[in-house]
Amino acid sequence: MIRLLGLSGSLRSASINTAVLHAAAELLPKGTTLDVFTDWSDLPPFSPDLEAADPPPPSVLAFRAALSAASGVLIACPEYAHGLPGAFKNALDWVVGSGELSGKPVATLNAAPNSSHAQAALLEVLRTMDARPLFGSPFAVPGLHRRMTTADVLAHAEAKAVLKETLVELTAATSPARMQP
Ligand SMILES: Cc1cc2nc3c(=O)[nH]c(=O)nc-3n(C[C@H](O)[C@H](O)[C@H](O)COP(=O)(O)O)c2cc1C
Repeated sequence: MIRLLGLSGSLRSASINTAVLHAAAELLPKGTTLDVFTDWSDLPPFSPDLEAADPPPPSVLAFRAALSAASGVLIACPEYAHGLPGAFKNALDWVVGSGELSGKPVATLNAAPNSSHAQAALLEVLRTMDARPLFGSPFAVPGLHRRMTTADVLAHAEAKAVLKETLVELTAATSPARMQP
């Protein structure tokens, strides 16, 4: 069984990016599971001093454990002020030193096709963390808007096709053969 982890870059309760991840969980290839991680909003503001605490905060341990257990990660992230949402960047900062994303295949999605800066920023952060972003996967999920629900995404043929294709690519990238440099 291939375990994927979904991370939404939005804390908004009715987030389209979170809806996209829940839709993805309904469209998985055979032999694949996808858990949507929701607890990372409890993460404290990153500080190297707090990172050095022994033990680290429980929310940090939970986030790191969820990432460690996953063979691949699916990120759906909005753009805020031409960059990554601060709370999401904070979450990523918590695993720079501990390295749970290192070598891990990551597919990135954005439910707002007009925003391009955040995708570039996210890819740069992931590359710096030594993750393996899937450059071949489509980044923008077409035809969506912020008021859509998971059911709306699943009813949208084009978005559904992009999600399915992304999941197939991500699942394939988790195979040991694809892990070779
Ligand atoms: C504080 C803030 C800043 C935003 N900045 C941008 C931006 O720079 N470019 C853009 O395309 N959309 C921007 N947006 C719009 C969001 O990316 C868009 O509403 C997105 O659908 C929100 O995702 P969510 O539904 O998952 O929360 C911004 C939204 C907020 C709340």
